[in-house]
Amino acid sequence: MRRDIDSVLYSRERIAERVKELGAAISRDLEAAEADPAEIVLVPILTGSIVFVADLIRHLPQKLRISVISVTSYPGKSMSSRGASLRGAIPGNLGGRHVLIVDDILDSGNTIRLVQSIIQEQEPASIRTCVMLRKRIPSALETEASYVGFDIDDVFVVGYGLDYDDYYRNLPDIVTLRPDAL
Ligand code: IMP
Ligand code: MG
Repeated sequence: MRRDIDSVLYSRERIAERVKELGAAISRDLEAAEADPAEIVLVPILTGSIVFVADLIRHLPQKLRISVISVTSYPGKSMSSRGASLRGAIPGNLGGRHVLIVDDILDSGNTIRLVQSIIQEQEPASIRTCVMLRKRIPSALETEASYVGFDIDDVFVVGYGLDYDDYYRNLPDIVTLRPDAL
């Protein structure tokens, strides 16, 4: 796997620092909103957010629930969005709750917009969105995101949960791949 890496964009150390800062910002806002602990729900989007959300929740001291949602937008070896579609169950009981959607990366925005609209129908008290990465492209910048780890150029990245053809999610750093690995 190592020899497929072209360059390291964000090291595990830099990621850890940033996740800690994001956790602090989210906690501050939850405290300011005086959110009832029974009302905080994180909605991680599978599969890309698994590593990020595992780290993030350990910087959130609030009592909270987690309710995952599964969306596909980059099936198989595709490197651009094929339009987001829901797979499996929709998280329930979100009415009146403070919902934080968590995803790995904001690209076309199709995924986040789909999840926001599904959740909005349940009339939560608030919906916020947290992504580890956001591409510096109009579709991503125009999509509502409350917390962003890093803004990156429009390059294809893997690691820290992000995949190519479902591989590389277990790389601890965020990296680009060598052309011959794609
Ligand atoms: P969007 O729906 O186009 O905003 O893309 C969101 C999803 O596409 C993410 O959750 C990822 O699964 C995938 N994705 C977008 N850009 C990349 C990338 O650079 N590397 C790996 N996956 C990506
Ligand atoms: Mg993916």
